[in-house]
Amino acid sequence: METFERVSTGIPKLDQMLGGGLLKGRTYLVSGETGVGKTILSLQFILDGLKKGEQCIYVSLDERIEGVLRGAMSLGWNLWEYVDSGLFYPFEFRLYAEDLRKFGKESRAFVDALAKIAHGKNVTRIVLDPISALAAGAREELVIREYLREIVNMIEERLGATTLMTCDIPTGSNKLSRFGFEEFLSSGVIVLGITRFYGKLLKTIYVRKMRWSKVDPAIYTFEIRPMEGIVILEPLSEEMDKSLIGP
Ligand SMILES: Nc1ncnc2c1ncn2[C@@H]1O[C@H](COP(=O)(O)OP(=O)(O)O)[C@@H](O)[C@H]1O
Ligand SMILES: [Mg+2]
Repeated sequence: METFERVSTGIPKLDQMLGGGLLKGRTYLVSGETGVGKTILSLQFILDGLKKGEQCIYVSLDERIEGVLRGAMSLGWNLWEYVDSGLFYPFEFRLYAEDLRKFGKESRAFVDALAKIAHGKNVTRIVLDPISALAAGAREELVIREYLREIVNMIEERLGATTLMTCDIPTGSNKLSRFGFEEFLSSGVIVLGITRFYGKLLKTIYVRKMRWSKVDPAIYTFEIRPMEGIVILEPLSEEMDKSLIGP
């Protein structure tokens, strides 16, 4: 029996890999090195909600919001129309390391900004892209951890929205997240990667962790296509696997 209400990622194959979709009202991490498709995946998740008439918030933490919306347009996704119709609330936010250091746990600027935007609405989906930028430059790990925990708690308890946080990880790293604790704050982790195979770069995707779900453990390749966005293809073959691990 299915006990949880599920929310689509906007990518049917990924929903299948997740055991039926994301759990409603929970927070998920999408991690991977830069340029692999995290922003596109999270916009696809937002677009799925918008098409269903849901109110969605997208927060850009490292790029001008106009640039993100223009990028979406290059894929054929017109998100402006949903801004006009009052469903989509895209904004950008920058938090500087000095602010974190100065105010520590009391620094609620981001939490307050989010709460203000969501006030009086029924926001069902939120994207924070990338969460690693929120704490850029801050050295005190404990402060960052408490800060992220506060954000996740606020969203899950007060807003109840299903949330994707993206996380930039350094090229070539096999870590799941930038700081090493973001995955513990989330109910699941989707990992995007790029690997070289016979002189070609392949994009890969797999589900690393997913609470309360039976996940598909395979690593799949994917492509980014206009209109369709992320399209998941074949699982990495045994031969490819071997070539990645080496002889
Ligand atoms: N219009 C497009 N058509 C096809 N692929 C695109 C298009 N725009 C971007 N891409 C692909 O998406 C990648 C960037 O995706 P993005 O989601 O911005 O990555 P990340 O957020 O992980 O840094 C690019 O490297 C490119 O391969
Ligand atoms: Mg991005």
